[in-house]
Amino acid sequence: MSDTRSAAWDDYSKTKPQRRTTNADGETTWFNWTQYADHGPGVEVLALQPGDCVLDLGCGSGGNLAHVATLGMKAVGIDLSPKQLAKAHERWPDVDGMELHQGDALQFLGDTFTIFDAVYSVFGAAWFTDPRLLLPIVHARLKPGGVFGFSQRPPVEGCYGCQASYIPRGDDEDPAVVKRWDYQPDIWSSLLKEYGFPEVTATVLPASEADQRTTGTLLVRAVRGVQPQLF
Ligand SMILES: C[S@@+](CC[C@H](N)C(=O)[O-])C[C@H]1O[C@@H](n2cnc3c(N)ncnc32)[C@H](O)[C@@H]1O
Repeated sequence: MSDTRSAAWDDYSKTKPQRRTTNADGETTWFNWTQYADHGPGVEVLALQPGDCVLDLGCGSGGNLAHVATLGMKAVGIDLSPKQLAKAHERWPDVDGMELHQGDALQFLGDTFTIFDAVYSVFGAAWFTDPRLLLPIVHARLKPGGVFGFSQRPPVEGCYGCQASYIPRGDDEDPAVVKRWDYQPDIWSSLLKEYGFPEVTATVLPASEADQRTTGTLLVRAVRGVQPQLF
C-alpha cells in the first residue's frame, strides 16, 4: 500500500514546479497555508518559540519547512515521496536545522521518541490519513499546549469522510488514486476535541481575490490538552 501511495505522489511531484525564488514581499522563504500565492496567514498560527522542534507531515518539496528552519527552529519533515524529497534537497541544500525523512507519517510518529512543540501539515499527510488513526498519535507526540495546524481543500458539499483523490498521470495512463478525508469545520472541531485537543479553530478561508479560482482553504488550528489521553 505504501509503495503504491509513494509512486502516486512521485507522479504528482513531476507535475509540480519548484516554489518561486521570492514571494511578493521579496522574501526568499515564507509559510503558505493555502493553494494561493501570497495569501492567508503565516507561521504565526503555530505560536512557535525560538528553538522549537516542529514536524511537517507531508512536507513535499519543503518550502514551508525551510521557512520554519530559517526562523531558528529544528524543522523535521516526513514525506512518502522520494521525488518530493529530492526536490526539497535540491531547492534547500544549505538550510541549517532542516531534517528530511522518507516514509509514512503514521509510521514515523509511531517510531519517534521526540515530543514536538508543534505539528503541521499543508495539504499534506493530515489530509491523506484517517484522522481516527492520526489524531491519537499526533496527540502522543505533541507537547501539552502545542499547536497542531493543518490546511486542505474544504469538502465538496455532501461528500464527507473518506474520498478518492485522483492524481493525473500520462495521457495514456489511468490516474493514480489515493484516499483523503474530508469533513466540514464543525466535524473537525468535534473530532479534535474527542482526541484531546480542547481548543480548536476550524474555518474556511476565502479564496484569494487575486485569483480566478473560488475554492477556499480549510484551516484547522488545534491546541493539545494538558491531560494524557487513554484512547
Ligand atoms: C499536495 S502535496 C503537499 C506538499 C507540501 N505540504 C506543500 O504544501 O507543498 C501532499 C504531500 O503529502 C505527502 N503525503 C501524502 N500522504 C502521506 C503520508 N501518509 N505520509 C507522509 N507523506 C504523505 C505526499 O507525498 C506529498 O508530498
